[in-house]
Amino acid sequence: MNTPGIYTPEQIEGWRKITEAVHADGGAVFIQLMHVGRMSHPDNTPHHRLPVAPSAISAGQEIFTPTGPQKTPTPRELSADDIRSTIAEFRHAAASAIAAGADGVEIHGANGYLLHQFLSPNANHRTDAYGGSIENRSRFVVEVAQALADEIGADRVGIRLSPAMPLGGIDEGDTESVRAQYRHLVTELATLNLAYLHLHHVGDDELLRSLRDIWPTAVLVVRYGRNREQIADDIDADLADIAPLGRFALANPDIVERLRSDAPLNEVDPTTLYGGGASGYTDYPALAHV
Ligand SMILES: Cc1cc2nc3c(=O)[nH]c(=O)nc-3n(C[C@H](O)[C@H](O)[C@H](O)COP(=O)(O)O)c2cc1C
Repeated sequence: MNTPGIYTPEQIEGWRKITEAVHADGGAVFIQLMHVGRMSHPDNTPHHRLPVAPSAISAGQEIFTPTGPQKTPTPRELSADDIRSTIAEFRHAAASAIAAGADGVEIHGANGYLLHQFLSPNANHRTDAYGGSIENRSRFVVEVAQALADEIGADRVGIRLSPAMPLGGIDEGDTESVRAQYRHLVTELATLNLAYLHLHHVGDDELLRSLRDIWPTAVLVVRYGRNREQIADDIDADLADIAPLGRFALANPDIVERLRSDAPLNEVDPTTLYGGGASGYTDYPALAHV
């Protein structure tokens, strides 16, 4: 619900306005491709369909629907054919993003959505080639990444991962299990030479160090709740090449200029997050207007 798409001709035309505006201002844009998997509800789909997931296991969460919060239902398990068609949908979305003028796409492998569900032993009970071992649980993510690298070129594909992130009812097990899972996955993904690895990091710096050592290109690291002084900490510690900004950038349309000139920052208004309208999205003032 309230999530933009990038798969119809109309959506491509809509996104073209965004990519042109970003490019005109000297920026680059990677569109994040997300499949929510079990983090959905029939009321949030046009055909009132059950969500799909690696296994028929509910996330046990509440989710926004048009009639208010509801419990996530038990999803339908993806068949082998469904997995193939889902990968084809990722391909189509990536090609559509490029057609819309984007510089690339980011695969959303984080935060409890479909790819993360495949990785997690408490969400993936499959007994075929996509479940059971670390290798098998990683397979879907690697196949999506490979398909997109083939479709639009590896240098136009980034991936976001969030080791041990418990969002969406995910439980990836103890520290050693998480390390083994992500070291394997990132080693596999490293062979593809993707544009970047974007980590939503929740605290295991030893794991972070080893993933950075494995990864051949740029590493982006974000930790929720950093203050202004902490933004560059991971770059200074040589754990990351780039510090991504979420809410700072949302609340400050001229964030780069403000950081450069040590200017004050607008505070983000938490009540307008996930709002779906202009308020709290396109109406934060730039510096000259503060
Ligand atoms: C309103 C809102 C929407 C978000 N949507 C996404 C999303 O679609 N995909 C994603 O990977 N992360 C999403 N996030 C997480 C952010 O990308 C970011 O990792 C997080 O906010 C921490 O960074 P920050 O402290 O710089 O905001 C969202 C966060 C917020 C607050």
